[in-house]
Amino acid sequence: MNILAIESSCDETAAAVVADGRRVLSSIIASQVEEHKLYGGVVPEIASRRHAEAISGVTAQALEQAGMTLADIDAIGVTHAPGLIGALLVGVNFAKGLAMSAGKPLIPTHHLRSHIAANYLAHPELKPPFLCLIVSGGHSHIVQVEDYTRFRVLGRTRDDAAGECFDKAARAMGMPYPGGIHLDKLARTGDPHAYTLPHPHVDGSPYDFSFSGLKTAVLNLLHNAAQKGETIDTANLSASFQYTVVDILCGNLLRAAADTGATTLVLAGGVSANSGLRERMERECKAHGYSLYVPPLSLCGDNAAMVGSQAFYEYAAACGQAADKPVRLAGLELNACATMPIEG
Ligand code: KG4
Ligand code: ZN
Repeated sequence: MNILAIESSCDETAAAVVADGRRVLSSIIASQVEEHKLYGGVVPEIASRRHAEAISGVTAQALEQAGMTLADIDAIGVTHAPGLIGALLVGVNFAKGLAMSAGKPLIPTHHLRSHIAANYLAHPELKPPFLCLIVSGGHSHIVQVEDYTRFRVLGRTRDDAAGECFDKAARAMGMPYPGGIHLDKLARTGDPHAYTLPHPHVDGSPYDFSFSGLKTAVLNLLHNAAQKGETIDTANLSASFQYTVVDILCGNLLRAAADTGATTLVLAGGVSANSGLRERMERECKAHGYSLYVPPLSLCGDNAAMVGSQAFYEYAAACGQAADKPVRLAGLELNACATMPIEG
């Protein structure tokens, strides 16, 4: 089954063709990051406009790269939630128009479910159940993936997402948006124990995260130093910050694994590209005898290939649920939603 997938939840306009949920036949990403960099973050109105300009060209390119026309496509998958509402609406409306005009089923797909599915593209043997840490610019979740379309959230951030915290700390140290990748690079040259930063716990919720206190600690440290005319070694501060975030993420994930008996752990989302997180989890999983799956760097950030994978499993689930009835998929009433729990 060939799925044409469309993603426009934030600042990447992307389209891809994926076969049977597992094989990427094409993947095109038009990033707007250079423009948003000028403002130090994503400007939602600009993002929507750029999506509208790019989406039909990106989709045509994805079909061309796959050597296909719409006639070869069996269904259209689209990210409909969560994300920037104006950005999501561009993808959703484009996909609705395409599905209606070409007479193809339309499969609404949850962005975080798709981040998890990025792993199915890279690891043919990976199947649920497993325990997943999803860390992106907008979310930090520990999720039990019971099946391809059944999820149970064990923990989530109470305030900032891990990626947001990386970006704000990096920005305060003078790095361009999005700063996570720059901070990661600089952290490799610094001492992770040079600064002691807060390690917040959420009382009574052993798997939840809270990153805003850590972010504030970094900002205060930088402001205080500036006021006193002292210089901060940003390599050491980056390394200490990254060490602390990774320690918090891994601590909660490993606690959840021990408590639930999970032995297969999966990372997903933009922050799963972080070298400190990947190295620490590899070490921990080896020590505990767990299997670890991480997406290749090319599939950690936003892309449409992961949407094509998840859409395949959403379609299969919809067909399975309605074996004696017509398949219930989205129609023209489909809307975008800025927020939506991963459980559905
Ligand atoms: O999943 P994603 O591409 O978009 C959302 O769905 O939010 O995640 C983007 C986030 C940004 O905050 C970015 O700085 C962060 O992922 N990120 C990283 C790294 N690469 C991307 N954070 C830390 N280390 C990295 N190497
Ligand atoms: Zn994302």
